[in-house]
Amino acid sequence: MNALAATSRNFRRAARLLDLDPKLEKSLLIPFREIKVECTIPMDDGKLASFVGFRVQHDNARGPMKGGIRYHPEVDPDEVNALAQLMTWKTAVAAVPYGGAKGGIGCNPGELSRSELERLTRVFTQKIHDLIGTHTDVPAPDMGTNAQTMAWMLDEYSKFHGHSPAVVTGKPIDLGGSLGRDAATGRGVMFATEALLAEYGKSISGSTFVIQGFGNVGSWAAQLIHEKGGKILALGDVTGSIRNKAGIDIPALMKHRNDGGALKDFHGAEVMDSAELLVHECDVLIPCALGGVLNKENAPDVKAKFIIEAANHPTDPEADEILAKKGVIVLPDIYANSGGVIVSYFEWVQNIQGFMWDEEKVNNELEKYMRSGFHHTKAMCKSLDCDLRMGAFTLGVNRVARATLLRGWEA
Ligand SMILES: NC(=O)c1ccc[n+]([C@@H]2O[C@H](COP(=O)([O-])OP(=O)(O)OC[C@H]3O[C@@H](n4cnc5c(N)ncnc54)[C@H](O)[C@@H]3O)[C@@H](O)[C@H]2O)c1
Repeated sequence: MNALAATSRNFRRAARLLDLDPKLEKSLLIPFREIKVECTIPMDDGKLASFVGFRVQHDNARGPMKGGIRYHPEVDPDEVNALAQLMTWKTAVAAVPYGGAKGGIGCNPGELSRSELERLTRVFTQKIHDLIGTHTDVPAPDMGTNAQTMAWMLDEYSKFHGHSPAVVTGKPIDLGGSLGRDAATGRGVMFATEALLAEYGKSISGSTFVIQGFGNVGSWAAQLIHEKGGKILALGDVTGSIRNKAGIDIPALMKHRNDGGALKDFHGAEVMDSAELLVHECDVLIPCALGGVLNKENAPDVKAKFIIEAANHPTDPEADEILAKKGVIVLPDIYANSGGVIVSYFEWVQNIQGFMWDEEKVNNELEKYMRSGFHHTKAMCKSLDCDLRMGAFTLGVNRVARATLLRGWEA
């Protein structure tokens, strides 16, 4: 099932649990605006190359639309639509005053030079500058993009609209980025994991972990879980996977990676088959890479007792059903990875106020928001007798539906 079908299916199940008016249900599902732009740039060899860029603005009932920009060869309109919709429910679960959006360019950033990436980002920004804005739609980094991409977007946007630091989040600190934003999604994953394990009388210290993805989210989640005493038995990225029964020394692995080493060349672990990673023995499995990685083929073999969805949409609905029957507890993406958008909100607030917070304040506020999101999700599970995914979806959908109705929807 593709990402859009799966997300819409979860939304419809939540709408039914909430007994939502069918007309409102239909209206909430349809995106506010879908943008598709052609971006042609000169490559370094002088030849022209064309790429397709997307921005889907899903809903703005609760505030400006918010969502990442992804550079990946598999970016397509359906996936961007699904991720934009997920952002609408995620910002509502996180209780930050935003709607949802998502964007991307179908390209392989690893094959583009820095100057080609800069030209592509600037052309994309030129094509969408009149549709984004501090109080309209605020992009952020996602897979294949980073603080530098946001710096180029900010600079290009400011040529048209004047200096506008709050038009993007996830910026470099020197351009108004927030302290703690880089680690925020991984830190939020750590807080979410703590909250879930505590419900079962467990803690990070004394639990074993497997992590897929060692980029921004995966590497921060791994470092913070390691700091809290969690034992990471295996992890992998696009280049391969490694394991160590005694637990991987994450600070040593970070040093190895920051020195340019590949995972497979790390001396503190043995190389393993990447196909085995998601079904490796552990207490907690944390997918931090692509969507759809847990499916009906591998779900029956999953050995983890808990899955924390740090990636967006890592679990197919078919896998969800299989995992539920096996008694595996899945903490859904729209709550588990909301740390990034929560600190993006703090960054936006700091830019608008012109007053920067210290890192301790950012991390303390993030912890409060993550704990509150968990508490409210659990309350929905209790009142509607549903699992955590439906608890989070009903929480988010209900908040967006209420805002839509309050604005006056039927006149
Ligand atoms: N960065 C954020 O703030 C943020 C916030 C919320 C959700 N997310 C989601 O988290 C996930 C990861 O995002 P990120 O920002 O860390 O991206 P990233 O580009 O920094 O890292 C992605 C990681 O996934 C790995 N990967 C890619 N293909 C893989 C494959 N086939 N098998 C195994 N590993 C593979 C890459 O090697 C890399 O380690 C995405 O689903 C993204 O949408 C990110």
